[in-house]
Amino acid sequence: MTKILVTGGTGYIGSHTVVELQQAGYEVVIIDNLSNSNINVLDGIEKISGIRPAFVKGDVTDITTLRQLFKDHPGIKGIINFAASKAVNESVQKPLLYYRNNLVSLLNLLELMPEFGVEGIVFSSSCTVYGEPDNNPIDESAPIKPATSPYGNTKQISEEIITDTIYSGAPIKSIILRYFNPVGAHPSAEIGELPLGVPQNLIPYLTQTAAGIRKELTVFGNDYDTPDGSCIRDFIDVVDLAKAHVIAMRRMLDNPKGEKLEIFNLGTGRGLSVLELIESFERATGVKVPHKIGPRREGDIEKIWAEPSKANNVLGWKAEATIDDTMRNAWRWQQKITPKD
Ligand code: WQD
Repeated sequence: MTKILVTGGTGYIGSHTVVELQQAGYEVVIIDNLSNSNINVLDGIEKISGIRPAFVKGDVTDITTLRQLFKDHPGIKGIINFAASKAVNESVQKPLLYYRNNLVSLLNLLELMPEFGVEGIVFSSSCTVYGEPDNNPIDESAPIKPATSPYGNTKQISEEIITDTIYSGAPIKSIILRYFNPVGAHPSAEIGELPLGVPQNLIPYLTQTAAGIRKELTVFGNDYDTPDGSCIRDFIDVVDLAKAHVIAMRRMLDNPKGEKLEIFNLGTGRGLSVLELIESFERATGVKVPHKIGPRREGDIEKIWAEPSKANNVLGWKAEATIDDTMRNAWRWQQKITPKD
């Protein structure tokens, strides 16, 4: 059974990817420092797949911990690297934390891969690297714009570190996946997004409002150059996203003579506005979301959605969930985790 290391594997996208890896027949080892996730996620993973992944509580920025993990878990052939700080606005307040956490962890992984015979790394990147696109939909040839936050800059720098390492002749391969907006939860409602504190992202704030935890959702601006004035995004179901990682890992490990570095945009190709997403949630669940229009949020991109044909045709992956299915799953998960009075 091929063994895969998933860093940040108890996180939102990480946990959904662990389940898909296990169901595809991979053995999974997780390392996570639990700074933005909960150890109970392992129970949810086990309930879905029937397999409890090996778990190491540790920090990928600590090379001693990482070296010990590779010694304790020999035979790891691939890595999926989710472990990173990801709150855009927090990165503006704490840039050094973001540069250290997101870059040192990647440097450690790349340095240790040849030492332990790890053949490939799938890197969790983001459409943030494109900044505000000149036009949409956006494919992988679109220009990388100057980052608008330290978080986005860590994704751009990480991509450059991987590219330079592979072009230097290192005996490794990589697939970089640029996510658009991951949303939703596993249909089993055993795992999902667990935001700590006040959610920054749209869906957790929306579902908490629907659940009565938040009083009202504020739509950050309706004076953008879009049909209904609210921002447009490419909301991609988290299970569809997780499946793409398994396909990417198989492509890397099963094709020794394949490309050493490939980059894919992971999106649905469907742009939806914030107001349209609220409508989808209300239609799909029958639950109203109290909301109002507020001022724009600093740093928001006006509109961005993917041209996913490279992932569809080369990777052989396509987003399948309808947005209503995704909203139903998000609501089911929120109902599961909402404290009962
Ligand atoms: C989406 C839209 C908001 C909250 C960021 C990162 C990206 C990735 C996902 C990590 C925007 C609007 C939001 C609210 C709102 N991060 N909104 N009211 O900013 O597109 O992407 O998070 O992987 O890299 O850049 O996601 O969910 O914060 O916002 O109106 O209470 O929803 O203005 O238009 P974003 P988001």
